[in-house]
Amino acid sequence: MTLPQVIALGGSLLRPEESENRKIWFGKLRQLAIHIEGNSRKLGIVVGGGLPAREGIELAKDFTSDLDRLDEVGIAATRLNATIIQQILLDVGCNVAPAIPHDTQSAAQYFEQHNFVVMGGTLPGHTTDAVAVTLARDCRAKDCIIATNVSHIYNKDPKESDDAKPFFDMTIDELISITGTERLSPGQSAVVDPIAVSIAAEHKINIAVLDGREIDLIESALDGKEFHGTVVRS
Ligand code: UTP
Repeated sequence: MTLPQVIALGGSLLRPEESENRKIWFGKLRQLAIHIEGNSRKLGIVVGGGLPAREGIELAKDFTSDLDRLDEVGIAATRLNATIIQQILLDVGCNVAPAIPHDTQSAAQYFEQHNFVVMGGTLPGHTTDAVAVTLARDCRAKDCIIATNVSHIYNKDPKESDDAKPFFDMTIDELISITGTERLSPGQSAVVDPIAVSIAAEHKINIAVLDGREIDLIESALDGKEFHGTVVRS
């Protein structure tokens, strides 16, 4: 069986500022899916929660401060977004798993019958980056692509520091020194979830970080070609 590839799609990618960009992005995603299906390749897509996750978590904070409960709200949003992507792929006739799996082992099993598996979060305590790395492990994939809304991993936050420098190639230990290994709080943003980095280090999975607003970059990374972004070697 062809080994599946795995990508984490940040939830913010589903809702760009302008609706025209959204149509173009979804159109290109459909074309990419048809290209993958046409080549009998397999792809696991782990979708983030984006705006609905943050809104839901903020609402729930009025009633609870329990981190796991707030994470559950975020997980529900990731599954909503995963369902949108799943339905789009079904619409273009792709062989997509009929359900949104709630754990990565079930997701990996779906590849016996299907070319695409789309899922969101699993359990509290991490983000969909960690789910994607875990799915890569369960599918015996060596790499995990993280498509987000920044072009690279930087040595410091580029929104706060003008002299932030992008990494093109780095080791997983260098990444750990930037992210740390602490659990993020519900809805907290980070270029890569520290828990995902720890899992990648433990299972020797390489991470590719790229700007998912550019579907061409995703395609290049999936095709094993050079792409504009950061490669993290485990
Ligand atoms: P995301 O995976 O969307 O966080 O999960 P993110 O990567 O920071 O955001 P985007 O998608 O790139 O914008 C959203 C929230 O859902 C909960 C966490 O609270 C997380 O912050 N979550 C998600 C979990 O608790 N477990 C999961 O497996 C996934």
